[in-house]
Amino acid sequence: TPDRAMDILLNDWLLYQVLGCRLWARTAYYQSSGAYGFRDQLQDVMALCVSRPDLAREHLLRAAGRQFAEGDVQHWWLPPKGQGIRTKISDDRIWLAYVATHYVDASGDAAVLDEVLPFLTGQPIPDGASDAFFQPGVTQQHVSVYEHCALAIDTALTRGAHGLPLIETGDWNDGMNAVGAEGRGESSWLGWFLLATIATLAPHAEHRGEKARARHWRDYADELRVALEQAWDGQWYRRGYYDDGAPLGSRENDECRIDTIAQSWSVRAGNTDPARSTQAMDSVDRLLIDHPNQVARLFTPPFDHGKENPGYIKGYPPGVRENGGQYTHGAIWSIFAWAGLGDGDRAEGLFHLLNPIHHAGRAEAVERYKVEPYVVCADVYSVAPYIGRGGWTWYTGSAAWLYRAGLEAVLGFHLHGEQLRIDPCIPRAWPGFELRYQHRGRHVSAYTITVENPNHAGHGVTAVELDGAACPAANPITLVDDGQAHALRIVLG
Ligand code: GLC
Repeated sequence: TPDRAMDILLNDWLLYQVLGCRLWARTAYYQSSGAYGFRDQLQDVMALCVSRPDLAREHLLRAAGRQFAEGDVQHWWLPPKGQGIRTKISDDRIWLAYVATHYVDASGDAAVLDEVLPFLTGQPIPDGASDAFFQPGVTQQHVSVYEHCALAIDTALTRGAHGLPLIETGDWNDGMNAVGAEGRGESSWLGWFLLATIATLAPHAEHRGEKARARHWRDYADELRVALEQAWDGQWYRRGYYDDGAPLGSRENDECRIDTIAQSWSVRAGNTDPARSTQAMDSVDRLLIDHPNQVARLFTPPFDHGKENPGYIKGYPPGVRENGGQYTHGAIWSIFAWAGLGDGDRAEGLFHLLNPIHHAGRAEAVERYKVEPYVVCADVYSVAPYIGRGGWTWYTGSAAWLYRAGLEAVLGFHLHGEQLRIDPCIPRAWPGFELRYQHRGRHVSAYTITVENPNHAGHGVTAVELDGAACPAANPITLVDDGQAHALRIVLG
């Protein structure tokens, strides 16, 4: 690409971080762990679905085996024996279905859904407690990976007073553990996430003849869509509601008035009201992205002395980590959102802003950022006197998402088994870029993909040529396993 710093991350360092630190070591200076986080490594292996689908498959099976017969999962567990924590965190189980369907789509390996695994057994969470740590047993009964995923969704379809799913003791944002601790708080992010997951899992259910089950999920999704639109706050979507019904992430709040993940996931979930998503993402750009300081905040303003208690997030200093700092993992989802809206300038612009190499290009930038420029950091502080200082490098789920954001959202590389679809969303100013991909199979076939952007549109494929022969502009092309070199030319209009 015209950005050498992007090439360095996409060709080498991001996958190195994902594989070496996140999947294998599961430890770094900031957190010496060794545990598997249920949602963490599942998201990480999504980045390996192109280059090492075998590792993604292996981990998918490992994670599917950490589900209790009641549908919930261990929030994290310790190999080799499997002691771990049972919680009331609401999103964990859904990631199993979300990642399984992505793996099947990218690898073409639908057979993984028929692998069978037992459930975990163990004590329920005691009354009045929010979690329980113990060594679980396993059931005699074994069910398919598909059934593990389906059970996860069956048991996740909750509804609060505003029609949104219950956040319980946290959703993706672990630190919002008090928003719904009494069982009534709700999360719009969780709603968008459920919509996206139901949309990919329901076809598998239908394919297996489970029409009624799929119908039940889709009916829930239809009602959820209506409730999500009612969470519109005027210029963005609210993040949810506290146990007492007070809004979270609303202009009515003094702290956390707007939260980025409730906006970006409206696009990822395929919002039926694109005008609202566009406005929501404009609000993200205007209110959350601090361009001069190169910081993309998770929400703003941070929690400090306000009356609301969202949870332990409030214990972090304002502007640090999830408390309104740049929480890179969540910020990256906006790259997908802008690409989904066809805005390559903003999509690549945010990739550029988050790229650690661009935080260390000059002596004074190094002095400010202070951490390694070759790996992604989990957070960048957003409040004086530490604006722009990086924290918690290496062991962060942002490496995997940043890799996918660059490769898939910006460069538009979408592998579907033996099919390849190229649908870039790049800056209008880029002349184009080139990508080399070695397709596995019995042989190794090398594809050189050249993307041209002659009219500065940045997106919209108008011509496709494979080995000199014109193909329909609506990709995908079928990859062949002939051990030959192939040239794919893509023209954007
Ligand atoms: C940490 C956790 C991850 C969580 C995120 C946001 O990275 O490991 O599970 O989703 O923070 O709170």
